[in-house]
Amino acid sequence: MRRETDRFFRQLVAGMRNGVLAITRDGLVAEINGEAQRIFQLKRSSRSVGRHFSEVLAKHPDIVRVLHSAFDLSHLPNRAELRLKTTNKVIGYTLSHVKDERGRSSGVALFFKDLTKIEQLEERERLRDRLVALGEMAAAIAHEVKNPLAGIEVMAGVLKRQAAVVDSPDAQSLLNDIINEAKMANQIVHEALEFVRPIRLQVEHTAIADVLQTSIALAESKIPRRNIDLTVNVDEGLPPIQGDQHQLCQLFTNLLINAFEALEGKGRVDISAREGLHEEDPHAAGADGTPRTVIVTVTDDGPGVPRELRDRIFNAFFTTKPQGSGLGLAIVRKVVDAHDGRIDIQTGSSGTRFQVTLPVSGANDWFAPRSQGHLRSSTDD
Ligand SMILES: Nc1ncnc2c1ncn2[C@@H]1O[C@H](COP(=O)(O)OP(=O)(O)O)[C@@H](O)[C@H]1O
Ligand SMILES: [Mg+2]
Repeated sequence: MRRETDRFFRQLVAGMRNGVLAITRDGLVAEINGEAQRIFQLKRSSRSVGRHFSEVLAKHPDIVRVLHSAFDLSHLPNRAELRLKTTNKVIGYTLSHVKDERGRSSGVALFFKDLTKIEQLEERERLRDRLVALGEMAAAIAHEVKNPLAGIEVMAGVLKRQAAVVDSPDAQSLLNDIINEAKMANQIVHEALEFVRPIRLQVEHTAIADVLQTSIALAESKIPRRNIDLTVNVDEGLPPIQGDQHQLCQLFTNLLINAFEALEGKGRVDISAREGLHEEDPHAAGADGTPRTVIVTVTDDGPGVPRELRDRIFNAFFTTKPQGSGLGLAIVRKVVDAHDGRIDIQTGSSGTRFQVTLPVSGANDWFAPRSQGHLRSSTDD
């Protein structure tokens, strides 16, 4: 019976999801479980039991120190934390004395848990808080700057009209410059605001064809298309998607502006929209629970993105243009993420293609059961 309980306790310790290390009064390892070996990165094959702890834990002088002092202390730390220097893991631990029947100390036990993940989560949380604070500040500044900028533009316009009356071409061209610069500054402020604002989607049934038409008009109003051929191919029967119309327009406008800018007034831009095939869908769960997607591609035959820059183009403030804000693609990524979509880029010396995949059913709704199959006609009811 005693042997059986013994075995039971051994198995109990072996299976625990906390690290357990026990040493005897003379410093020999009496017990070490699998989780402890994992956290200390000890080889499973190496026999630790029966050897001196300072030898077993030679790679972890910080733990050796803690264990050494444990014999001298009457009050042992409960819930302390420690970073293991060699592995950079953070552990939370409790130390306790092992006492014999007469209450004499016969050893020390260390119980611990790997806190690295929790620590990383907390770090991310802190970072998010900081970004929110930063975003609020940027939004406040941008907001304050907008009004004086609008003032400058209006007043320069008034002066320009007066300059026309007294017929002063020099003054007029200077004023034109002022107005253009103010417009550009305003555009940057606008983009910065768009970027820092946390996205709250106003989701509605959205027809991609409408979104693309609006985006083209917006892009053309910002960058003259000149000799760029533009073709648009939207599949018939494309289902409307659950999305934020305004944000989606922003997304495709930014892609189009980039394409126009890359072409510098000459070349081709193709826009296409179709329903996603299930095989291409990374979220596909299989047969009938498969969510539907709409895939929009924006392709240009411009110079492409150099290989060494490809990892960075989505970063905020990354730009290769003298007057660029570097926020266009950062906003694109943000809007795609908010819709639970994805964006892929293919680029080379013959051009660039951005492919945006959006779920038809909208963000956070991937696994909602579909009432109909994926028959095209079912979108009407
Ligand atoms: N269609 C494209 N063709 C070539 N390069 C592109 C294209 N789209 C984006 N890029 C590159 O990505 C960078 C970042 O784009 P973006 O975030 O929109 O900022 P910006 O347009 O203000 O530079 C651009 O400066 C450019 O170098
Ligand atoms: Mg851009």
